[in-house]
Amino acid sequence: MYFCYKNDVLFWLEADLNKLCLEIETLLENKYRYNGPYYVYHADILRKRLQLTAKTLPKSRFFYSVKSLSNIHILKIIKEYENFGLDVVSEGEILRGILADFEGKDIVFAGVGKKRSEIIFGLEKNIKSFHVESIEELKKIAEIALSLGKTASVALRVNPNIEADTHEYIKTGLDENKFGLSSNEFTLALEIIRESSSLNLNGLQTHLGSQIKDSKPYKDALALLVNLAGIVKEKLSKPVDYLSLGGGFGIDYESSLKDITANDFSLKEIADYELYKNSEYQIDFEPGRFISGYSGILVSKVLYLKEKKDFIIAVVDSGMTDLIRPALYKAKHPILTVKKRNEAKAIYDIAGPICESSDYLAKKIELTELKQNDRLAVLHCGAYASTMGSNYNSRPLAPEFLIEEDKVILIRKPQSLDEMLTLEISANKA
Ligand SMILES: Cc1ncc(COP(=O)(O)O)c(C=O)c1O
Repeated sequence: MYFCYKNDVLFWLEADLNKLCLEIETLLENKYRYNGPYYVYHADILRKRLQLTAKTLPKSRFFYSVKSLSNIHILKIIKEYENFGLDVVSEGEILRGILADFEGKDIVFAGVGKKRSEIIFGLEKNIKSFHVESIEELKKIAEIALSLGKTASVALRVNPNIEADTHEYIKTGLDENKFGLSSNEFTLALEIIRESSSLNLNGLQTHLGSQIKDSKPYKDALALLVNLAGIVKEKLSKPVDYLSLGGGFGIDYESSLKDITANDFSLKEIADYELYKNSEYQIDFEPGRFISGYSGILVSKVLYLKEKKDFIIAVVDSGMTDLIRPALYKAKHPILTVKKRNEAKAIYDIAGPICESSDYLAKKIELTELKQNDRLAVLHCGAYASTMGSNYNSRPLAPEFLIEEDKVILIRKPQSLDEMLTLEISANKA
């Protein structure tokens, strides 16, 4: 069990969260004069997820999706696992990978809008592959590689036009979506590659969306990629090195005190799929949330309580600038009190401090009695929480901590107000 109460105190595996929060807050207050929300990650959970993934699909390689949780100290843990590389979407993410000791050969570069400078950077770092999303991008990569006297390794990201059951905003695999090449564009791309002296096609890739629980769309997508790989072999007289089914494995955002792996996407269903088991191709994945999602919590304090007729609004010190998923996707995150006062329960809305009416972390949830300064742990904030953080309302970015063995380590300092404002203050200075 990941979370449990012992004597009314919330434990996260072996970590007493009340004690840990006191230690963190003392450091933040004394050293940084900071008293806002913070993220805490658990290295053991990250490692459990990495091991589980690698063990269940032992034939595969994985390219961890950096956008889900990109702190360099987290990437260094990913680096411990030899069948893991990185899936990046910007020059900044490549740099993070390099700072975490990844080599270019371990990095695939995705994204619909790669800039010229980013393509050059990727070529200089000899990345494993550019995952190409349009004909114009393919031509641009060919032209830049030629001018640098290099050969660019590319994989074609195909739009599978497969519906996956997930939120509208995180569907990517439909023809109407902006991602990937349509079947006509795929044929044209092969012609361009055949004629080019600066492109080498090494893979085919697809990505269906995020937070998907059903394995059927992955099976369909694999069948499609195998079919397309046959066409590549015929047209280019050379097989591709790998097929990548992207990321998107869903996790269980409903549970908190149960063994939360029970309702995850089933990797085993992929492992048992005939086409996967018997494939002549190397099959890769790009999980993000599945690896990092459970590994983080956001700790927030109650600022004020407002009594309504049937419920209470608890205004807390973190909001959509620290965790935008509830406001953006109506996503749910379990929330638990770090220390229970008593067993009396009430219904709460957990509202953030931001001036937006969508700024809630949760609505109509049952919690034990809250008072000012009580701490709340927002669970499953390892993925798409800190990485989607912003300075909206001129709020500084929250710090990040990592539980490693029995210690808690600061892995991102709190942003000071000076640091937040310095780009503006220094803009007109010589
Ligand atoms: C191409 C690609 N790969 C992998 C991922 C990671 O998705 P997830 O974190 O849901 O596994 C994404 C997410 O947007 C993506 O666009």
